[in-house]
Amino acid sequence: MSKQILILPGDGIGPEIVTEAVKVLAALRDRFGFDVEMDEALVGGAAIDATGGPLPDATLDLAKEADAILLGAVGGPKWEQLDISIRPEKGLLGLRSALNLFANLRPAILYPQLADASSLKAEIVAGLDIMIVRELTGGIYFGQPRGIRELEGGEKQGFNTLVYQESEVDRIARVAFDIARKRDSRVCSVDKANVLECTELWREVVTRVGEEYADVDLSHMYVDNAAMQLVKWPKQFDVMVTTNMFGDILSDCAAMLTGSIGMLPSASLDEQGKGMYEPIHGSAPDIAGQGVANPLATILSVAMMLRYSLNEPEMADRVEAAVDKVLDQGLRTPDIFAEGMTEVNCETMGDAVVAALD
Ligand code: IPM
Ligand code: MG
Repeated sequence: MSKQILILPGDGIGPEIVTEAVKVLAALRDRFGFDVEMDEALVGGAAIDATGGPLPDATLDLAKEADAILLGAVGGPKWEQLDISIRPEKGLLGLRSALNLFANLRPAILYPQLADASSLKAEIVAGLDIMIVRELTGGIYFGQPRGIRELEGGEKQGFNTLVYQESEVDRIARVAFDIARKRDSRVCSVDKANVLECTELWREVVTRVGEEYADVDLSHMYVDNAAMQLVKWPKQFDVMVTTNMFGDILSDCAAMLTGSIGMLPSASLDEQGKGMYEPIHGSAPDIAGQGVANPLATILSVAMMLRYSLNEPEMADRVEAAVDKVLDQGLRTPDIFAEGMTEVNCETMGDAVVAALD
């Protein structure tokens, strides 16, 4: 039976980068016999403009039926004035939550060809290979109560709730330990247990789960120190597991170690391994429509999709090898451009990857 992939281009550079990733999927279908059907739907600002809301029922229904979802990016200045409850970002958060995509895998890998594109010294980042496992459907992103209320006297007060229950921590910890077993068998759990009770419990549960994984080396780190260590000596990390918000912040930080946030894919998985795949970067309204965005994070997200949700490891290898090849050829979008390389736009980069699939 053919695999059903739902394509959600979204906003800003989303449609540009997704177009290139879809070309790659179509090439796998047409040239390499990958049995796939693609459908497209609206999410984020594009959905607000067309339907009034960021996550139309039709999109959610298609997402539930699909074997996997590829998402570009959501959001932009056009919708920033809207109430936070109906902004484009709610489309993305709604999908993560409705599909129970609690495990967000964000690999930060340095391509040797891009060692000079990192803002850190090459020796600090050479060979970097970190997997950030971010909890994605809980924590302060979803905790209740939340809102902005008016205090007596008229002053306003904003509030959010950081909340995790044991089962949520337990399951994300297991994801991290299982992944570590296939890598260097080290997990660093990141929390703020010195200040926040919620993450004191986080640490307790991760430690408990860790006892079942005696072969995996577990350490704990406070998030402020983790941010510092990431730029000081990032190669000390193998797998990092952390809360929704800490993971959001640390993954952007880790991305820059690799030269550009335009290179990093992600997978968001449910308990059965069904997933949504997206570049970790945003909709980049400042460059949207110019055709200069880097499509490689989205194309690498396709590779993750093939590997994690569609059970097509050879197709995944093929896509990753093609990305490696175009970097070897010296092709660079502006975000990763360096002296002596060939600067290309989004479309040319996508075409080059398609050509390099052989
Ligand atoms: C990410 C993004 C999202 C998040 C936004 C767009 C809601 O920053 O996927 O990292 O905060 O999770
Ligand atoms: Mg983010």
